[in-house]
Amino acid sequence: MEKDADKLLSNLEERLKFFRDIGADFVFKNETAPVRTPSPPGGPSSSPPPASMDIQAVHEEILRCRKCPLAAGRTQAVPGEGHLHAELMFVGEGPGHDEDVQGRPFVGRAGQLLTKIIRAMTYERADVFITNIVKCRPPNNRVPRRDEIEICSPYLREQILNIRPKVIVTLGKVATDLFVPDAFGAMTTLRGQFYDWNGIPVMPTFHPSYLIRNEGNKEIKKMVWDDMQKVMVRLGRK
Ligand code: URA
Repeated sequence: MEKDADKLLSNLEERLKFFRDIGADFVFKNETAPVRTPSPPGGPSSSPPPASMDIQAVHEEILRCRKCPLAAGRTQAVPGEGHLHAELMFVGEGPGHDEDVQGRPFVGRAGQLLTKIIRAMTYERADVFITNIVKCRPPNNRVPRRDEIEICSPYLREQILNIRPKVIVTLGKVATDLFVPDAFGAMTTLRGQFYDWNGIPVMPTFHPSYLIRNEGNKEIKKMVWDDMQKVMVRLGRK
């Protein structure tokens, strides 16, 4: 009986995840209303403000963090990894099971696909920086809650202000909502164009898990590749 309920819950979570990935906001309206990192005093500037903490200190703080309920369920926090002066940064949603166990971002199936995309863009994983909106795994891979995102996003902000990438790629709707003002559209309409975050161009694209769930859909693959080609042009790699 309990097993049936677990299965039902897990199926429901999978479906909600699918709706979220395609940007069907109506399902999540109250849960994932855009939470944007506030602009610095004086309004948006054309270059990012200075970081207030050194990145090593940020990562140590993430590893110790117990500020939100996600800390209770994690094996370990996953700060992110890669080049500390990367010109390209990828931001996902939150660690999954494999990431929680290994303490590294995007190492599961979605991560393997992301690694392929990065290589196709003529980079190695070590050349870019990969992280997530929330640094601890949400239970059963559910969508991070608004309060969790609010508590965790200052870490991401500090990472960006330290690394100062030339382009940020947001993977999926949850990550995109944090960066793109009034991102009320679906991913299909948001993707493919650059937005500005404190002077840094942000390119939203579909989450690799969404590609995996729609394996065989060449149209979605093509859209992601089109988006990445725009990023490559912006970075002078094409
Ligand atoms: N999905 C994410 O959004 N992030 C990860 O690190 C892994 C899977």
